[in-house]
Amino acid sequence: MYARAVAATATAIMGTAGLLTPTSEARAGEVGPPTVVAHRGASAYAPENTLASIDEAAKMGFSWVENDVQRTKDGELVVIHDDSLQRTTNVEDVFPGRAPWKVKDFTAAEIARLDAGGWFSPAYAGTRVPTLEQYMRRVEHNHEKLLLEVKNPELYPGIEQQTLKLLGNEGWLDRQHLGRLIVQSFSADSVRTVHELRPALTTAYLGRPSVAQLPQYACFIDLINPSYGSISSGYVSAVHAFTGPHGRPLGVFAWTVDDAATAWKVAGYGVDGLITNKPDVVRAALDGD
Ligand code: G3P
Ligand code: CA
Repeated sequence: MYARAVAATATAIMGTAGLLTPTSEARAGEVGPPTVVAHRGASAYAPENTLASIDEAAKMGFSWVENDVQRTKDGELVVIHDDSLQRTTNVEDVFPGRAPWKVKDFTAAEIARLDAGGWFSPAYAGTRVPTLEQYMRRVEHNHEKLLLEVKNPELYPGIEQQTLKLLGNEGWLDRQHLGRLIVQSFSADSVRTVHELRPALTTAYLGRPSVAQLPQYACFIDLINPSYGSISSGYVSAVHAFTGPHGRPLGVFAWTVDDAATAWKVAGYGVDGLITNKPDVVRAALDGD
């Protein structure tokens, strides 16, 4: 079922280069299933972008997790999806006069006071918004692999450099860890900056560039990560035909696939990864359960 014709070629190229890469796992066999990535952690089962959500992914047996990184008023990197604290914390109760509760307008100490789990379920009350440092340590502790999204980089000048510095301090830019890390963004400029600062790092662009635009992207990205509804098997094949900055065919991780029928269909396009809030549902579909 997996129309992944480039797999053998990619494996051969990686063998030549002797590199362990984030997509090597997905491309290790000619007809292997796509890599399953737990989106914002196992976010259907635990509050998104928290330590609980990546613990849950690990408990369920999934090694790849995705997150979103932004920055506080006093310059701390934190893991949260929205540019406002409103939806996923109790900020309205704790700081009622501070609408619209933007992440960038709160200090790390203020954010550390917020409950980022009670909105999801009383069972998770008291869960905190993690700093990126706390998050990376838990990813390491759990032996997980990370698809890290630089979220809203236009709001946070220099966030690429700062994120890479933290990743380096935590040991995530050494050779071994580079095989467990992908940095992505909806901002092509941000991804290009990451690539220029740390060329060895695997990068991904969130979106669906036209095939005519792919040669430009292939200079600084390894993966195109589009919404699943925006692609076809023809598009995936077209992406695979380009070679990225590390000499390998470009890969495709599609999002956000949460039901079996869609997982089956999109896997059939030949994608290399499926990003999902329900990794168990996707895995069962791919396994034919
Ligand atoms: O990783 C893909 C996905 O995270 C992109 O969309 O809005 O969930 O960050 P979003
Ligand atoms: Ca994201």
